Amino acid sequence: MAKLLQSAAALPDKAPWPSGLRGPAAAIARWAFDQRHLDFSKSVQDALEMDGFEAPVAATSALHDLALRVAAAGCALQAELLASTTVYNMLGTSLVQRLPQHVLPRFEFHGDGCCRRYHVLADLLGPRLHQPARLLEVGVNNAITSEYLLNRFANLQFDGVDPYFGVEDIYAEASARLQPFSDRARLWRRTSAAAAAEFPPATFDVVFIDGDHSHDAVVEDLRLWRGHVRPGGLLAGHDLFNLAFEGVLEALVESLATRGAPETIHFGFDFVWWLQL
Ligand SMILES: C[S@@+](CC[C@H](N)C(=O)[O-])C[C@H]1O[C@@H](n2cnc3c(N)ncnc32)[C@H](O)[C@@H]1O
Repeated sequence: MAKLLQSAAALPDKAPWPSGLRGPAAAIARWAFDQRHLDFSKSVQDALEMDGFEAPVAATSALHDLALRVAAAGCALQAELLASTTVYNMLGTSLVQRLPQHVLPRFEFHGDGCCRRYHVLADLLGPRLHQPARLLEVGVNNAITSEYLLNRFANLQFDGVDPYFGVEDIYAEASARLQPFSDRARLWRRTSAAAAAEFPPATFDVVFIDGDHSHDAVVEDLRLWRGHVRPGGLLAGHDLFNLAFEGVLEALVESLATRGAPETIHFGFDFVWWLQL
């Protein structure tokens, strides 16, 4: 966090294009002190002043809630600082320099669903699951995300795609995790490209791209899967603004630019991004 704050401090506090991103000072002003913490101090105070045998429980619970809010604000600050730092860094690249400004995307941060990718996905999926809905995940790994979502939503139908090259143990672990949901979860052991050819267009409510994170692979996944999302659905993915995977941001910007009109890239905690189709 200290390193991130240091590099953010060197940036101008003005968005590079009408990107929708808050600059570092604005992000710090928004999250480092949240008015809701102050509002909440009243309930902490009330709980601390309570008498009777319930007092310690109320006080502990109020302090726990406050700590969670402060932690979530810290995560939001980190997410926004990483976004602005990464986008500024990308400005020097030949990719952005050759693109006309009017095709560059806007970004919109959503501070719900703290703090891991499966919490964010649960928040996105929840409102769609009053009836059965279909999720496809590209890159399942050990099925932590899919198990969490299948446990949480009885109406969720899941398809996962992962070739598991040379990792039999991880394939076995994922298969075991998904086995209790075999009536509504399928694991396709193949590459993203091979699987995409097997599904008809407009099949899924949400596609979550989290497979090969190289630039070219993400460009290819965006091309392969966009048409498989139903109108009104979400094309989503992981590791946007993650300094370890710079190709993801470049691939998204480049792919969206080819569509000729600016789109909004929504993003939340834990590097999750999504497009509303
Ligand atoms: C970061 S992990 C996925 C994590 C998982 N989505 C989660 O939330 O826990 C990336 C996975 O992508 C898989 N992968 C690599 N190349 C792929 C490809 N061409 N198609 C589909 N999956 C691929 C890897 O085998 C690996 O399991």
